[in-house]
Amino acid sequence: MTVPPPLALMMELTHRCPLRCAYCSNPLALEPASQELDTASWRRVLDQAAAMGILQVHFSGGEPTVRSDLEDLVGHAASVGLYTNLITSGVLLDSLRIDALAARGLEHVQLGFQDCDPAGSESISGFRGGFERKIKVAGWLRQRGLALTVNAVMTRHNAVRAGALIDLAAELGARRVEIANVQYYGWGLLNRAALMPTRDQLIEMTAVVEAARQRLTGIMVIDYVIPDYYAKRPKACMGGWARRFVNVTPTGRVLPCHAAETIPDLAFDRVCDRPLAEIWTDNMAFQKYRGIKGMPATCQHCDHREIDWGGCRCQALALAGAADAVDPTCERSPNHDEIQAIAAREAMTGRTDFVYRQRSLG
Ligand code: FES
Repeated sequence: MTVPPPLALMMELTHRCPLRCAYCSNPLALEPASQELDTASWRRVLDQAAAMGILQVHFSGGEPTVRSDLEDLVGHAASVGLYTNLITSGVLLDSLRIDALAARGLEHVQLGFQDCDPAGSESISGFRGGFERKIKVAGWLRQRGLALTVNAVMTRHNAVRAGALIDLAAELGARRVEIANVQYYGWGLLNRAALMPTRDQLIEMTAVVEAARQRLTGIMVIDYVIPDYYAKRPKACMGGWARRFVNVTPTGRVLPCHAAETIPDLAFDRVCDRPLAEIWTDNMAFQKYRGIKGMPATCQHCDHREIDWGGCRCQALALAGAADAVDPTCERSPNHDEIQAIAAREAMTGRTDFVYRQRSLG
C-alpha cells in the first residue's frame, strides 16, 4: 500500500521557552537543550521533507526563536520549496530579527496571545511584560507584510474577553484569529481543574464568536476550537493519526502527534537513524492507528469516520485508560457522560493554583 505524504512537518526546534504557560502542551518531561538536533541535522530533515512531498513546515517549540539558527533554517526551508510558518510567543523577537526572518523567506507567523489583559496574560504565562511586547511584534510583522494569525488561547479566566481578543486581532491586521480553548495535554492536563471553563461560559463564547464572524466576514477569518470535553463528537486530532502531520521533537524523535509518547507501547524512530519517509510509511507506531482500519471498531462503522478520523488516541489513553478505546469526548463512548461530569465539576472549583511549566532543561 502506498501511503500519501503528510501535508505538513511540525519541527519542535526546542522545548526551551521564556514563558511558563500553565496550559502548555509540551510533555511534562521536557527534552534537554544539550540534546537538541544541531543545524545540519534539521537541514537534513527539511531536505527529506521536501523530497517526500511535504508542502509546509511549522517552526515550533517550546519557543523556536530561542534557537539562534532559526533564520538559517527558515532560509533553507524556503530554498527547498516549503511554505514556512513560525509559531511563536513573540516575546524574544525584535524588529531586526523579524527583518532577517522575512529576508530569509518566512511567509506566515502565528503569534500566541494568552489574554488581552496584561495582568491576565502575566498570570497564566508566569512572564511579565509579554502582552506589551506582542503588540509591538504584531506591528513589526504587519509593517513587513508578513501574514499574521493571532492564536488566542482560551480558559475560564479569559473566556469573558473572547470578543475583545477578536477585536484586538482585527486591529493588529491579522488575517485569521484562532479562538482556541485549551486542549488538555501535557501541562494543560495537569492544570485542567484550574483552566476548564463552565458550560455557560462556553455558550457565551460561542455566541460572541458567531456574532463576530458575521461582522468580520471578508475581513478576518475566525477559527473556533471548543474544549472537547463539552463536545458531542471528537475533533479530528492532527487531521487523523499519521495522515496529515508529522512531528519531530527537539532531539529528533518522529511522532504522529505531540503527545504520542504518552502511549506506552509505541516505539518511535529518530530522524538521525532512519529516513523520514521510511519512518512515515513503515514505523509501527505510525501504522498502528492509521486510517479506518486503525480505529476502534465503533469508529470504523460510524458515518463520521472520515470526518473525525476516530478522534484522539492520546486522549483515549488519558481519559479512558486505553489508546484504542473510543475517544471519550465522543457521545458514543461509554465514558462520555463521565468526561462531561468531570468538566462541569472542575469548572466550578475556582482554582487558580497553576503548576507552571518548567522553562527549560540544560
Ligand atoms: Fe495524539 Fe491526539 S494528541 S492523537
